[in-house]
Amino acid sequence: MSMVDTFEKIPVKKFNSIQEGSCFIAGKIAALIKEKEKSGQFCVLGLATGSSPKTLYSELVRMHKEEGLSFRNVIAFNLDEYYPIEANALQSYKRFMRQQLFKKVDIDPSNCYIPDGGWDRENIKSKCSEFEQLIENCGGVDLQILGIGNNGHIGFNEPGSSLFSKTRLVPLDNSTRLANSHEFQNISKVPRLAITMGISTILKAKKIYLMAWGQHKAPVLQKAVEGHMSELVPASLLQHHPDCTFITDELAASELTRFKSPWLTGECEWTPQIIRKAVINLALKLGKPILSLTNADYNDNGLSDLLVEKGDAYEINLQVFYMMRDSITGWPGGKPKHKSVERSEPFPKRSLIFSPHPDDDIISMGGTFMRLHDQGHEVHVAYQTSGNIAVTDEFVTRFLDFAVGFEQLKGIDNNTSSKALREATQFLNNKKDSDADTQDIRDIKGLIRRCEAKATCHYVGLKDENIHFQNLPFYETGTIEKKPMSEEDIRITMELLQKVKPHQVYCAGDLADPHGTHKVCLDIVFESIHRLKSNREDWVNDCWVWLYKGAWQEWDISEIEMAIPMSPDQVMKKRYGIFIHQSQKDMVPFQGSDNREFWQRAEHRNANTANLYAQLGLTKFAAMEAFVRWNF
Ligand code: F6R
Repeated sequence: MSMVDTFEKIPVKKFNSIQEGSCFIAGKIAALIKEKEKSGQFCVLGLATGSSPKTLYSELVRMHKEEGLSFRNVIAFNLDEYYPIEANALQSYKRFMRQQLFKKVDIDPSNCYIPDGGWDRENIKSKCSEFEQLIENCGGVDLQILGIGNNGHIGFNEPGSSLFSKTRLVPLDNSTRLANSHEFQNISKVPRLAITMGISTILKAKKIYLMAWGQHKAPVLQKAVEGHMSELVPASLLQHHPDCTFITDELAASELTRFKSPWLTGECEWTPQIIRKAVINLALKLGKPILSLTNADYNDNGLSDLLVEKGDAYEINLQVFYMMRDSITGWPGGKPKHKSVERSEPFPKRSLIFSPHPDDDIISMGGTFMRLHDQGHEVHVAYQTSGNIAVTDEFVTRFLDFAVGFEQLKGIDNNTSSKALREATQFLNNKKDSDADTQDIRDIKGLIRRCEAKATCHYVGLKDENIHFQNLPFYETGTIEKKPMSEEDIRITMELLQKVKPHQVYCAGDLADPHGTHKVCLDIVFESIHRLKSNREDWVNDCWVWLYKGAWQEWDISEIEMAIPMSPDQVMKKRYGIFIHQSQKDMVPFQGSDNREFWQRAEHRNANTANLYAQLGLTKFAAMEAFVRWNF
């Protein structure tokens, strides 16, 4: 190692998976609980909600059930709660904690403290001071768990929160309301206020673990860990704390300098991939085409080591330029008699596109989808889940009104009108925010999305027999919370793969969607292919798997292995294909922290990829879709 091997001002421990990172923290918590128990003391834990700690809580529950870890000597203080909110509303953090942890272990419920979303507005200040006092009376928090918001918040301390802030009522940042809108029906239902422990409250904890999982947390994690301490990035204030560690997976750590640009923090092994990454970063940073980079550019920007090892800048430039040039092809299924990214033989191919939700195919690879079909390949699409939770009640009401109106038009009176129709209408008319949908409503929502997906396939030109609705059971819980992948999910997927025997499979390698659905869908395809391979199904060895990114992000330009250019007309055709998904337009229920509609995100992203290629000195196309090959 050379003099610097990290720019991190808070220690970061990176794990291979969320499971491994969560087990690490669970082990630390268990050890602390036992140590305190031995000396007859209470162990005071500070707990968080949200998606980040879920695996940690299920590991603690497992330790309780299988290893006898007891929580009798635990006192728990939760960071925050929406305000106002009913204690048993689906979205309340009180309910979350009960379901994820408290009711599954032997903690004394009277030792569980959570700011109360039902506190009287006039009393909130005094209730908050009492909450602070209570923590003090219990001897302070021994170990605090934190997540991190995309805007850097910890607890609900939004950007701008003072270092000296205490437990208090705060307005929620709009980006937080958007990010959390997936827990509610839509953004307008997300409370505008919350009660949260302050930054100073959090910093008083004796030990802190902050968890960050997934690509979407990578930029803010980098700012918090490597940036200046600033109240504008509340998590960066943890740099003040003497015993705080960030626990991450590979994706969340990917923007840290030691991973993103390892040549800047010490010695690095110059693989073709790293060379490509370094040269592309350099070209983009200097705003120069790859072939114009000089030895001086390399030397002035920390890449002299690469010159020493690989020789002249021009040779290195050429190597990277050719890699980029060779990734561009208008023939995603291969071009007959031509060398291209994909094999030229067999032609035509059988291509199977896995689409986690009913619109990911068209949003993420609509141009490629159309090209594959237009170039004569046998294209199949498998819609992995029903996507039913992403349809608003208002949208269903419109369909129900239509069905009822149609019956009236045909003179069918109220008594003979379908019972299911009447019940569904009645349910929606009386539905409260905290009510979960009935099976009928879920079915209607799924059907709406299914019809939209089918219409898109017809628009592209697919026949009905090539459209497969898998309805994977892991998804069908009716809530945001999904089940883990099951044998049934794998069986259904293996069966389809065996039936189609594709030469090419496309799946969403997007690990950053907010509900984790894409990740489970990907795991199911990977597991199915692995099993088919070990069953020695010959065709699997000739099957290439291409990963596209879902609606939320794009591959890093230096990772792209196949880039499919699109003409302006194809961009428009793709846009109209996305428009067919009317239930997802205008009021997207689960939009995450990005308020652009899906078609806009797709267009910006595809144009951006094309612009990056052009900036690097390659041909300028209107748009490009990008893929990475999975080598299994
Ligand atoms: C939750 C909390 C928040 C979350 C943060 C990240 O109690 O205090 O700061 O930790 O919003 O949320 P997830 O984990 O859902 O990404």
